[in-house]
Amino acid sequence: MNRRYRKTVIAGNWKLHKTIAETKAFSEALKAKMERPRWCETVLCVPYVNIPSAVRAFRDTRVAIGAQDVSCEKEGPYTGEVSAEMLKEAGAKYVIVGHSERRRRYGETDLLVGRKVQAALDAGLSPIICVGETLDEREKEITAERITVQVKAALADVSVTALRRVIIAYEPVWAIGTGHTASVEYAGEIGTHIRTVLRRKYGARAARSVSILYGGSMNEENAAALLACPDVDGGLIGVASLDADRFWAIVEAARPAPVDDTPPPKPRLSHEENE
Ligand code: 13P
Repeated sequence: MNRRYRKTVIAGNWKLHKTIAETKAFSEALKAKMERPRWCETVLCVPYVNIPSAVRAFRDTRVAIGAQDVSCEKEGPYTGEVSAEMLKEAGAKYVIVGHSERRRRYGETDLLVGRKVQAALDAGLSPIICVGETLDEREKEITAERITVQVKAALADVSVTALRRVIIAYEPVWAIGTGHTASVEYAGEIGTHIRTVLRRKYGARAARSVSILYGGSMNEENAAALLACPDVDGGLIGVASLDADRFWAIVEAARPAPVDDTPPPKPRLSHEENE
């Protein structure tokens, strides 16, 4: 994390979990623990139909609500789709775009991800863009190339001004839902690689203000170590975000260490040393 230049973001991705009633119960459990976490942006990306009730349940807290996908189209004959405008009106502030589960299971291409990012930005949402290599790509040692291609495609039409609203989540596909987290060094290295790609396109100043999250079996035990990397500015959390205690523990892991205000020991005077 580097709090000087960018915000820390702890985001839950609930995937296909929780009914409206369960969302309400979760919000009550979380609010019971929660002092307002001012040290990070806390986000829950919930199923579409839960968005209005989640927005209501978390009103007056610092938890923002997001969606997990969005249409690249504004309106028209696209059965089953939900537009960015609709999400915005329902109270969402964020939207996950290009999650590997959508790329893999629903055939989303880099090109489509780029169009969705643009649709989200046009409607005033913040896209959380997911990138990451598969196990096969990792074994072939083409992780950096693959991620470069994904980041560039996702940001193809994004201006330097709109970049301010973009969040990137590095999620190695082999780490998602497997309990195998990337090592701190590896996650940190890829975070830095992503920032280098941003810097080449947008310049150092714009690149340093983008929050880059890590996702893939992040939990309350490994969060603090991952967040200590300069280019890991938060987490995108699946399973561990479904439980209010576990999610809160990760938000806590992002809390800055308290400033030690005990006065420093008095310097010894030279005449004391001679005594
Ligand atoms: P897990 O935390 O369950 O591995 O899921 C990560 C993820 O896919 C978040 O988008």
